[in-house]
Amino acid sequence: MNISRLSREYYTSETIYSREIAQIFSRQWLCVGRSSDISQPGQYFLCQLAEDNVIITRGSDGVARAHHNLCRHRGMRLCAEPVGQFRKTIQCPYHAWTYDLDGRLRGAPHMEEVADFNKADWPLLPAHLVEWEGFLFLNLAEEPEPFAAVYAPLLDKFRQWQLSDLQTVRRITYNVAANWKLIFQNYSECYHCPGVHPKLADLSPYRSGENDLTEGLVLGGPSHIAEGHHSLTMSGRLCGLPLSSPENARLVYYYTFLPNMFLSLHPDYVLVHVLQPEGNGRTQITCHWLFHPASIAQPDFNPDDAIELWDMTNRQDWEMCELTQQGVNSRVFTPGPYATLETMPVAFEQSYFNLMRD
Ligand code: FES
Ligand SMILES: [Fe+2]
Repeated sequence: MNISRLSREYYTSETIYSREIAQIFSRQWLCVGRSSDISQPGQYFLCQLAEDNVIITRGSDGVARAHHNLCRHRGMRLCAEPVGQFRKTIQCPYHAWTYDLDGRLRGAPHMEEVADFNKADWPLLPAHLVEWEGFLFLNLAEEPEPFAAVYAPLLDKFRQWQLSDLQTVRRITYNVAANWKLIFQNYSECYHCPGVHPKLADLSPYRSGENDLTEGLVLGGPSHIAEGHHSLTMSGRLCGLPLSSPENARLVYYYTFLPNMFLSLHPDYVLVHVLQPEGNGRTQITCHWLFHPASIAQPDFNPDDAIELWDMTNRQDWEMCELTQQGVNSRVFTPGPYATLETMPVAFEQSYFNLMRD
């Protein structure tokens, strides 16, 4: 019998949450959005993690970069609007120090009067950012393990879905009153599907999951689409041109990327969940529905068939996660045994404790 080691304090203790920020979220690669969110030089968005706030922007050289959102003079937050467009530079509103989009300090009024002041010594503080398959991944560690090394076995695994070509057709942000691990555990099993998601369970038999990645940072595998259906949509029909190869035409692949992304690869579209913890009992989740441009160009393109299904399913899930958070908050909560259908939450726990131990 496998009893969870995630006891009550893992969902309630501020000390453990701070350790997670230090040990996991400040060390691992985090999905923060899509490359197309900053398609133009100077286009930017902000990304908040605990006390850190980072500007994600593209330079005039086309390179996507991350800069800590604080001025090197006296530390002012440079930029308050969560998304926007810089002209050619980033200027501090306080004393007008001005930085190039690549972070170099380019102007600092009156600082030439200061002995030994050298602009080259005061660039914006960088964070690591990579682009992979159209996704932006941020790492806040000073010297992170390179993205390609961490994810080497996976780099080609998703090729057939042409992820870098896909476009975001809809994005919905959810604010959920539950710890980020409850969201992970919930996504990782379909034991709850018959009761919580009757529609989803009708489209995909809840016992049909077969996991092909069972340890490490990325976990999951395929589930089958039920007889008579072709994708996970309200109608059960495809709502885009097929992306995956014919042998995958009746499968949906579900993967969790520790610590903040879920990738759900359907025959005709891809759903991505990006998690941002906002404290112990609160998580912001942004879902992107991605389709191929050739599907979007079809005259009868109807992504709502997919969006509605997952928006409904998400809301059903968030309700379960919020009620679970309320239950585990109780002084008397202790974890019970996992079912055999919960091998992925067990694997998640294993990976989680490995990261917390490092
Ligand atoms: S704090 Fe930015 S210029 Fe002074
Ligand atoms: Fe669910």
